[in-house]
Amino acid sequence: MKRPIAMLTATGHAVPTRVFKNTDFASIGIETSDEWIRERTGIGQRHIAGAGENLTSLCTAAARTAMEQAGVTASELDAIILGTASPDRLLPATAVEVQAKLGASRAVAFDIDAACSGWLYGIQVAEGMLATGNYETILVIGGEVLSRIVNWKDRNTCVLFGDGAGATVLKRSTKGRGILSAYMRSDGTLADLLHRPKGGAADPLTPEILAEGTHLLTMAGREVFKNAVRSMADAADRALDGAKLSATDIDVMIPHQANIRIIEATAKHANIPMEKVFVNVDRFGNTSAASIPIALSEAHAQGIVKEGSTVMFVAFGAGFTWGSMVVRY
Ligand code: UT7
Repeated sequence: MKRPIAMLTATGHAVPTRVFKNTDFASIGIETSDEWIRERTGIGQRHIAGAGENLTSLCTAAARTAMEQAGVTASELDAIILGTASPDRLLPATAVEVQAKLGASRAVAFDIDAACSGWLYGIQVAEGMLATGNYETILVIGGEVLSRIVNWKDRNTCVLFGDGAGATVLKRSTKGRGILSAYMRSDGTLADLLHRPKGGAADPLTPEILAEGTHLLTMAGREVFKNAVRSMADAADRALDGAKLSATDIDVMIPHQANIRIIEATAKHANIPMEKVFVNVDRFGNTSAASIPIALSEAHAQGIVKEGSTVMFVAFGAGFTWGSMVVRY
């Protein structure tokens, strides 16, 4: 495939109104501390969906901002791809609910379940669709309402995650702008290290499952951490190789925002100084598929990513899934 084919033309994001600070965990009986969470993860707070907020509403709000910025109307959208691990309903896909809310009647709409890599996978699927010549304008969203699938009694996980959505509008490349390289990998042999063990079609919900909480997210944190560092480091190398660029060519690195220590290790391996790494995990926690598009939207709004910037994305999540991309914005 001769690149660039697709370019990212606009961004937007939305997060719930309610902010849940590290110090708020005491109020729900979780034995932790602001100091522990900040030291081990870099997280200071996260946004949590309240009554009336759900994945559809967050994704629709993020999409509207990105569409307005791109000057694209709902009827011009050819496709809506939503990366998420926390859909509003198990059937149908939340992307069709977003389609209905936007009134994007011409758009084909579907979800991608690749956990924290969902937006990055979605961008690569959209690039392939644009390459066919059958599509011109594709909305790619990463969104999560993880607060509704985490176990609020498990301090190993509940302190880590947050809710939100980020959206991007993709169009066919012009003026050499767009995706210069992209890489995706998966390893299902490690699926049990980060998963929701029960409650799916293999083990449908029962009162016992609900009581023991095995339908909620569970994670072997230390193992996931090691794999994340190893895979993200490798993915960063491959993105640079694929684009035939070196670390000094990268203006901004936007990694998945799970843990500041993983971000620092990935940047160090890639030889990218932290001044060039966009970090917002302190304010949003780990928003899984939403983390990179929210960060991109903020970096764009702050003028850190602008037309002509060379940006590297690196993601890692449950599955395991991981990947990377270099984009000339
Ligand atoms: O987005 C997908 C990818 N996900 C990730 O990348 C997450 C990867 N994992 C991590 O970020 C880290 O492994 C964690 C932040 C989850 C944990 O940090 P850690 O340095 O690996 O700590 P640990 O799991 O080894 O636990 C250290 C100690 C344990 O106590 P003991 O057994 O040493 O006495 C835990 O019980 O910290 C304890 N602990 C806590 N203490 C206070 C675990 N959670 C908490 C907590 N507050 N919230």
